[in-house]
Amino acid sequence: MPRPPRPRRSPLRRQLQGLALAAACLVPALAPSTAAAWHDDGHRIVGEIAERRLSKQARAQVRELLADMPSYATLATAATWADQQARGDATFNFVASSHYVNLDRNLSPRELLSLCLEKSGCVATGVAYYAEILRSTRASKAQKAEALRFLAHFIGDAHQPLHTGHASDRGGNDIDGLRMLEYTPAAERTNLHALWDGGFVAITMARAGWDWPRYALELDGRISPAMSGRWGRGSVYDWLEESRLFALANGYLHADGKTPIRKGDSLGEDWYAHNLEVAEQRLQQAGVRLAAVLEEIFG
Ligand code: ADE
Ligand code: ZN
Ligand code: ZN
Repeated sequence: MPRPPRPRRSPLRRQLQGLALAAACLVPALAPSTAAAWHDDGHRIVGEIAERRLSKQARAQVRELLADMPSYATLATAATWADQQARGDATFNFVASSHYVNLDRNLSPRELLSLCLEKSGCVATGVAYYAEILRSTRASKAQKAEALRFLAHFIGDAHQPLHTGHASDRGGNDIDGLRMLEYTPAAERTNLHALWDGGFVAITMARAGWDWPRYALELDGRISPAMSGRWGRGSVYDWLEESRLFALANGYLHADGKTPIRKGDSLGEDWYAHNLEVAEQRLQQAGVRLAAVLEEIFG
């Protein structure tokens, strides 16, 4: 498992290459998704891991709240609502900047809050705000249901390393024209942000022949009690600093851990194998932490 990274840490090693290359021959080409944030399956996986970890009591309260929207009635499906329904709805313009925060250095909680307030909100204020609505004794059931859908989404977003990337390249969105394995068939290209949002999840599921519930089960099963105990502590400020360090140590770099990825580059099997462990750990951590926050509120 990757530890919280240091900017110049040595490369992660995982012996996936042979397996992945063999599997690559078996799967059809995948078109990159254009959705924002962890693409929907990433968010579903985070929600599913969290729901599997809730106590009976907390799960029952979560399900009761979410029952107001049948298409988003589980934590897994609810976690996609912020991208699927709330984006593009003018009612929610005020949360548009709450999916990410651009960080160029380690900020104290006070500095981070100040940055977020300058930008009409960021993922740190989004997480804190919606957790507070769930704790409120005054908020209506409908308000709490909406808050839960946003919270399940934003805790996932806080863990995607490029959601704390550089403002100058919009978290890797501007590092475009990239090719990666079968994720960009023929002449298609994608950008670095999208690869982190969805590339690892899509390729891994296609190669293994898994759907998102199966992938969530796998990832959840690999979380030891020691890992969940360690990860369950801390706050959104800590999670964002971890993401920032992963962006520096992995997110922006080729598989050698040194060379910055530039527009038009190709990323191969070595890049996928080098970073998959980080992408998977961030999904696991987001699930554990979403569960911990909800357990504290509803347990
Ligand atoms: N999504 C849209 N703009 C972004 C940015 N500047 N950083 C990260 N994610 C983004
Ligand atoms: Zn998002
Ligand atoms: Zn994103």
